[in-house]
Amino acid sequence: MKILILGSGGREHTFAYKIAQSPKCEKLYIAPGNAGTLNVGKNVSLNVGDFSGIKDFIIEKNIDMLVVGPEDPLVKGITDFCKAEPELKELLIVGPSKRGALLEGSKERAKEFMAMHNIPTAAYESFTAESLEAGKVFLETLKAPYVLKADGLAAGKGVLILNDLNEAKAELENMLKNQKFGEASAKVVIEEFLDGIELSVFVLTDGKNYKILPTAKDYKRIGEGDTGLNTGGMGAISPVPFADAEFMQKIEERIVKPTVDGLAEENIDYKGFIFIGLIKVGEEPYVIEYNVRMGDPETEVVLPRVKSDLVEVLAKAAQGKLDEVDLEIDERAATTVMMVSGGYPEAYEKGKEITGIENVEDALVFHAGTTTKDDKVVTNGGRVIAVTAFGEDYKEALKKSYQNVEKLQFDKMYFRKDLGFDLA
Ligand code: AMP
Ligand code: GLY
Repeated sequence: MKILILGSGGREHTFAYKIAQSPKCEKLYIAPGNAGTLNVGKNVSLNVGDFSGIKDFIIEKNIDMLVVGPEDPLVKGITDFCKAEPELKELLIVGPSKRGALLEGSKERAKEFMAMHNIPTAAYESFTAESLEAGKVFLETLKAPYVLKADGLAAGKGVLILNDLNEAKAELENMLKNQKFGEASAKVVIEEFLDGIELSVFVLTDGKNYKILPTAKDYKRIGEGDTGLNTGGMGAISPVPFADAEFMQKIEERIVKPTVDGLAEENIDYKGFIFIGLIKVGEEPYVIEYNVRMGDPETEVVLPRVKSDLVEVLAKAAQGKLDEVDLEIDERAATTVMMVSGGYPEAYEKGKEITGIENVEDALVFHAGTTTKDDKVVTNGGRVIAVTAFGEDYKEALKKSYQNVEKLQFDKMYFRKDLGFDLA
C-alpha cells in the first residue's frame, strides 16, 4: 500500500515508524513531516490545510490510504472533501467526517452528545454574549473552582479553571465579549468541577466495531508537580497503573460502547480514533473531553505497545471491517519524556542544533519539532523530541527514558524530571 500521513509532530513520527515496519507498506509519505519522519518515509512539503494540494498529490502518487494526524483538517472536513472527489473513490481514510470531528470541534456539541447518549460527564450549561448575565448567575449557583471552556478549537488553551467567583465572571465576560480566544470563545461551556485523577483511553472505530487501545496518562503542565502553564504534553505513561480491569470495564460499558453506538445511531461516518479524556472521581469514570485523533505525546507510548500490523488494522478500520482483526498488545509499560525548547509554552528560539541522537540505546527517539539544516538536525518547535522506553513497569521504563534523555543536547533544552510523581 502507498500511504500518506498528514502532520509533523511526535505523533506523526510514531505513526510513520509503525507503518514503515509493516510488510504491507510499499511507500510512505508524510506531509509535511519532520527530521525524524525522513528516516522512515519521504517528506512532502504540503500543508495539512491545503486540501486541493493534498488531493493532487494523492492522485499523482496513487495513494491507497490517508492517515490524518491532527484535529484541524478533520474539523475542517478533509474526510468529506476527499469522499466527495470522484477520483478519490478508492482512497481509504483514517479520520472521521466533519460531523464526527465536531465532538472535538465544539465542546457544546460534545456535551449534548453525551447527554443524549447517557454518557457520564460534568453537569454544564452553555452561554453566548447575549446570555452573559445568565452565565454569571449560573456561576453563582456553582461551587469553586469554576470551569470555563471555549466552545471551539483553541489549541488546547481554551479551558480556564478559576477559584474566585468574581474572576470567573470577569473571564467569562472576556471570553464572550472580548473574544479572548477569538471565534472559539463566541460560545462558552461552564462546567461543574470534577475532582479526581485523569487518564486517557484511545479507541479505534469503524463506526460500528471498535478496539480499545492501551490507556495512557500525559503530563500537561510545564512545571514539576503539575505546576505552571499548560503545554501540548511533557511526557506520557502507558498503561495507567490505576486503570485496572474493573475500572476498564466501567469505561467500556458506560462510555466506549455508548459513544460508538451513539455515532452509529446518529448516522455519523466515523472511521478513525476517538481519544477520550477521562477523570476518575472516587471509583467512577467521567468524560472530560473527546478528541477525534490520537494524542501527542500519548501516541509515542500507545503505538509502540501495539504489536499487530498497524497498516492492516488501520485499513480494516477505514474499510468498516474492524471486526476482522485482533489487536495484540505488548504487556510491558512504555514511557516517553518530551524535551522542549527553553521558554516553551511561551516564546522560544528555533534552529538549535540537536546532538547525541546516535548515542541513544534501548529507546526510541520520536521527533516532534525538528527539521534539517545543512545536514544537521535542528529544533523547529516548542516540543522537540520525545524519548520512549519500555520496562516491566512504568518506573523501569522511565529510568531508561531519562538515561537516554541525558544523552541528547541542544541549547536551552528543558524536560520534566518528575513524570509519574503522582502514581507512586
Ligand atoms: P479539556 O481541554 O476539556 O481537556 O480541559 C483541559 C484540562 O482542564 C483537562 O485536562 C482537565 O485537567 C481540566 N478540566 C477540564 N474540565 C474539567 C472539569 N469539569 N473538572 C475538572 N477539571 C477539568
Ligand atoms: N496530549 C494531549 C493532546 O494530544 O491533546
